[in-house]
Amino acid sequence: MIRNRARQSFEALIRILQPCGVSRFWSATPASSRYLLFRKKLFQRLSNELKAQTVCEAAREINQSAMENCSLFGKVESSEGIPQVDSKVQTKATGNFIDGELAMIIRENIKKHTSMKVIVKLTEKGIFSCKYGAIPHRHIIGETCGREFLTSQDIQVLIRRPTLHDYILIMRRLPTISFPKDICTMLMMIDVSPGDSILEAGSGSGAMTLFLSKAVGPQGKVHSMEMKMKHLDLASKNFNRWKDSWNLSHNCKWTSNVEFHHGCLINNGYRILEGLKFDGAVIDMEECAAAMPVLIQFLKIGGAVCFYVANITQVIEICDIIRSQELPFTVENIVEVQHTDWIVNPARRRNGAFINSTSNMSVHLTDDDGKEAKTPERLIGPAQYIKYIAKPWKGSEHSAFLVKAVRLELFPSSYKV
Ligand SMILES: C[S@@+](CC[C@H](N)C(=O)[O-])C[C@H]1O[C@@H](n2cnc3c(N)ncnc32)[C@H](O)[C@@H]1O
Repeated sequence: MIRNRARQSFEALIRILQPCGVSRFWSATPASSRYLLFRKKLFQRLSNELKAQTVCEAAREINQSAMENCSLFGKVESSEGIPQVDSKVQTKATGNFIDGELAMIIRENIKKHTSMKVIVKLTEKGIFSCKYGAIPHRHIIGETCGREFLTSQDIQVLIRRPTLHDYILIMRRLPTISFPKDICTMLMMIDVSPGDSILEAGSGSGAMTLFLSKAVGPQGKVHSMEMKMKHLDLASKNFNRWKDSWNLSHNCKWTSNVEFHHGCLINNGYRILEGLKFDGAVIDMEECAAAMPVLIQFLKIGGAVCFYVANITQVIEICDIIRSQELPFTVENIVEVQHTDWIVNPARRRNGAFINSTSNMSVHLTDDDGKEAKTPERLIGPAQYIKYIAKPWKGSEHSAFLVKAVRLELFPSSYKV
């Protein structure tokens, strides 16, 4: 009976692994040693390769257990060495691409420090095509999300699930988005928490809206106001596209916790937001200072607003309107977020060969223009074999000033002269 169960389990495993090319390996194996191979070689080989997720699926079918989903996270080894899933920590529904979800295709050129990054929605009949060749979507669907594929021109591309960070940088835009480095800081400045109710103006292309939606979670709410219908439509489309893909590939649903409002915050804000109170606000629009009277009415006492402004003149306008009109706010922080991307690659000779190092691992620090830095070489570790070059990728550019103002009960007396 045990033998029978083992055979059934084995056949279930083979059925699941067939799309990965296992059937050829299997049929070339003599019948007498199949079971042995199953135990010793096949399973070991597959679990060592990129198929951990598929093996997870197999384990589920074999055990006929109550496990409903499998995940990259919380994978534990059973006594038989079969990866199983700790259902308490899973968030991803499956490690394989699903029809209808978003996939990111990446081709990096390390030598030129360039990369192609494209996000596509997978469909059974779709074909991804670029200068490196084409890949039918059906070759991607069902495969592990995080592996290399060959295009029709035999060029390797990496395909994985996009993160929200990837998505907002690639999605369609009309106005400029708030950049991720600033978004993180703004979320921190308004101290957003799950369950919060947040006001946003304007919605723009919807980048900030997505991060706010994620931060407040299913119990929270984001009210996003935009005066241009075209921008509002795009922000809403970008939001839904991300949400739909997430819901296909994750167990926990991304709820529709954003309400988009069409209107000008300064002119129609009072009417549209009537009866609401907010724990925090993010204001990214031209006339930030003019939004102050609306914020007095709708922001809870103790709640913070973060203004995203392009120049220091706008920062001064915000400070001045608070002082001159004695508004119940205190400006707590004015921040410019600096961010430098670095490239760290093995050093190579002209012919492409790595530069060997026999002693300690060494790093050459170079300036942006490629010239050797004043401290040319640093020894950073025990014996390694090749040298590495590290340099900042692009010069950091100014993007915005972030101004945090906290709503008080009254205008602070210390401001009065
Ligand atoms: C720079 S974009 C915002 C980008 C957005 N934070 C994002 O991450 O995609 C500024 C937006 O504010 C809108 N806007 C300007 N004044 C407004 C107002 N008084 N009320 C509502 N929206 C306004 C503009 O139409 C524009 O779409």
